[in-house]
Amino acid sequence: MEQELLIPNHIGIIMDGNGRWAQERGLIRTMGHKHAVGILKELCIHMADVGVNYCSLYAFSTENFKREITEVDFLMNLFISSFNKEFDFIKKKKVRVLFSGRREPLPNKVLEAMDQLVEETKNNTELTLNICLNYGSHAEMVDTTKKICEMYKNGVISLDDITEELIQKNLYQDLPPLDFVIRTSGELRLSNFMMYQASYAEFYFPKVYFPDFNNEEFDKAIIEYNKRNRRFGGVK
Ligand code: FPP
Repeated sequence: MEQELLIPNHIGIIMDGNGRWAQERGLIRTMGHKHAVGILKELCIHMADVGVNYCSLYAFSTENFKREITEVDFLMNLFISSFNKEFDFIKKKKVRVLFSGRREPLPNKVLEAMDQLVEETKNNTELTLNICLNYGSHAEMVDTTKKICEMYKNGVISLDDITEELIQKNLYQDLPPLDFVIRTSGELRLSNFMMYQASYAEFYFPKVYFPDFNNEEFDKAIIEYNKRNRRFGGVK
């Protein structure tokens, strides 16, 4: 990639289109998720190399539990094998992994694999990978509100202490705002992904399905980001 390009500090990726990618090849939907892990691995290495500081990935939404049990089970097992094995590259690339989302009702084996990855990568200083798993913005608002109400009830804070900064500090993770949100597959929706954090993000909707979103597609996205004029509510 050209050196002079501005790299967004925090990128969000909605990894959409795995099912369609597989179906168009006459495969079962879950093969799309399997293939996506390889692409994700390459992408993370590339992001660390080009100097992305934070990347939030939408891996599983609170609503995804409504899918067929076979697909949910497949994804849970894929998370376990990815975090235990496929994600070994993460340690070499000094990637720090965090998770956002509700722990309930994730299976214990998934939670154990998540906790282990967080622990093993906690001192890493390159790309921070925030994996949104059993995540929803609405759920995050509820959980953040509950935490703040609890502090108020216990006398830790007063009403005047409830500021934007306090809300930010009590989200699942206290990360910088999203600069750039990419949703693959051509769908033009946010689907409950980091709505609070995306207030001033730029959006990009490439038509390719996630299993085809390779490093070349990522570089095209960065070129597109560099064409945007970000004003944050100010004038040109
Ligand atoms: C959306 O595509 C994708 C998902 C719900 C799952 C995302 C999971 C992965 C990419 C697996 C690897 C992730 C990690 C963190 C190891 P879809 O199934 O909705 O596709 P469709 O819209 O074509 O049906």
